[in-house]
Amino acid sequence: MPIVPATPDAIRRAAQALAGGEIVAFPTETVYGLAANALDARAVAKVFAAKERPRFNPLIVHVHGLAEAGEYGLVNEAARKLAAAFWPGPLTLVMKRRSTCGIADLVSAGLNTIALRAPAHPVAQALLAKAALPLAGPSANRSGRISPTAAAHVEAELGDRPAMILDGGPSPFGIESTVVSVVGAEPALLRPGAVSREAIERVLGAPLIAAKAAERAASPGQLPAHYAPMTPLRLDARVVRADEALLAFGGDVPAGARATVNLSQSGNLEEAASKLFAALRELDQAGAAAIAVMPIPATGLGEAINDRLRRAANRG
Ligand code: TXA
Ligand code: MG
Repeated sequence: MPIVPATPDAIRRAAQALAGGEIVAFPTETVYGLAANALDARAVAKVFAAKERPRFNPLIVHVHGLAEAGEYGLVNEAARKLAAAFWPGPLTLVMKRRSTCGIADLVSAGLNTIALRAPAHPVAQALLAKAALPLAGPSANRSGRISPTAAAHVEAELGDRPAMILDGGPSPFGIESTVVSVVGAEPALLRPGAVSREAIERVLGAPLIAAKAAERAASPGQLPAHYAPMTPLRLDARVVRADEALLAFGGDVPAGARATVNLSQSGNLEEAASKLFAALRELDQAGAAAIAVMPIPATGLGEAINDRLRRAANRG
């Protein structure tokens, strides 16, 4: 049974396993990640194998903060501003990669850029400190499936593929980090996530541009079909059929569904984001013909929620 409470001793053992080239699942404030020593190409290859992830989809590297990020990527003015405002926290910055940085090429899938994030979760920080290594860490789900927001979800996805699953309780944000590229002249939004577009634009004093087609292709987490539950999703539902499960939002919920989970009765988008993936997992088990999803506003964290729902609904 690879799930272990994230005690100091377990974190020490996990750090040893990482130094020995093994892979370990760990909690972050967004979702659970699957870590490997980013300097060790063979360890990184194990992450791709465990997730059954295509090799062209690059990984995020978790670091302590901006000083360490600067060892692997080129920190410019926009990176400095955004890191000062949001690190440690749920923002990933894509920078130009230093050619001599030592990070395994596989991490960046051969690109000349690198995605870096300093997580805020105390267990993630303790693991980074003990391991004293940059940790490559995608979400700890099988490729194309729903991200895990609890240790049990990781076990359901990956079984005993990780040497350990550190259990740090439910993920506070419950949705992945926002990915912003600071490679071009103007910062671009590659993936909406736990930090809202509005908050980032306030710090930059300028709008985020849309990712260019080339950047989108380099960021396959942006693929239209992703996060897929087994049960088909029906978006923008205002009524529900008896054979459907209902993903509800707000106080005015139609009755009669086979199973219902309300993301937020009070219509709070932070609460809804934090419950989204666990709710999809739960409704996927209801044996329903479809999961009907009520409309959710597109502002603030609603942008990331709607992004994930659209891609979960796309059977590709
Ligand atoms: O919240 C999170 O970001 C979680 C936790 C564990 O930190 N991690 C996560 O990783 O969501 P993953 O691998 O599931 O998503 C990483 C995203 C993908 O969309 C990937 O394509 C993009 O970041 N990405 C990574 N490196 C990139 C690069 N060099 N250029 C463009 N996009 C990149
Ligand atoms: Mg993922």
